[in-house]
Amino acid sequence: MRFDVFTLLPEVFPSYLETSILKRARERGLIDVHVHNIRDYTRDKHHTADDAPYGGGGGMVMKPEPVFESIESVLGLSANTENIPIILLTPQGRVFNQSIADELSKHPRIFLLCGRYEGIDERIREHLVTDEISIGDYVLTGGELPALILMDAVSRLLPDVLGDPTGAQDDSHAMGLLEYPHYTRPPEFRGWKVPDVLLTGAHVKIDKWRREQALLRTLKKRPDMLEKAELSKEDLKFLENLK
Ligand code: ADE
Repeated sequence: MRFDVFTLLPEVFPSYLETSILKRARERGLIDVHVHNIRDYTRDKHHTADDAPYGGGGGMVMKPEPVFESIESVLGLSANTENIPIILLTPQGRVFNQSIADELSKHPRIFLLCGRYEGIDERIREHLVTDEISIGDYVLTGGELPALILMDAVSRLLPDVLGDPTGAQDDSHAMGLLEYPHYTRPPEFRGWKVPDVLLTGAHVKIDKWRREQALLRTLKKRPDMLEKAELSKEDLKFLENLK
């Protein structure tokens, strides 16, 4: 899968992309990330990418020309461009979640446009971008961190990116519930014991315990998620018995 990122702060990206799982995924050719500096597409001698808003008021607005030109020039080099989502990261977008990550992971290529300053010229939103995504109801100084978050969440869903092939299946949110608790050695630490069932090797019992723990913590921490989760008869009975 290929990501093309359009930003005024390209230097933000390498440190994260060159470490850990995303680095390995890039080295193995599972993902490919191209970061484009919007300022390279300005034509004036000061490389102006922003300007004062019409109508007055504070702050600066990202100019349309370099944004259109950067995205169009990269699109122009590509085949089959109609189906490439051009996503603006903005607090006004639909709120990112696991099912949007899933949906995006099906695309072979995605463009990500990072907003900066107080805003972007509305014509970019109306005539260039095809989707708008927010990573939550709070305002950051720009779309760079949201773009990294989106790439991270989407990349780990791609085949072979995670070392464990079942890695993403049991994740919190993947199954509509929060994930069950994990333990590793030692079996006792400062007097706190690992639950006995996990030491038995009895997989049917362990699966049942994990499912119940996932239900319990979802009920406790995110009861809103239970309303949308796919629950079996046993799940419902377990929850009923808790009352
Ligand atoms: N840019 C600024 N704040 C943002 C947010 N919450 N999500 C996505 N892009 C943003």
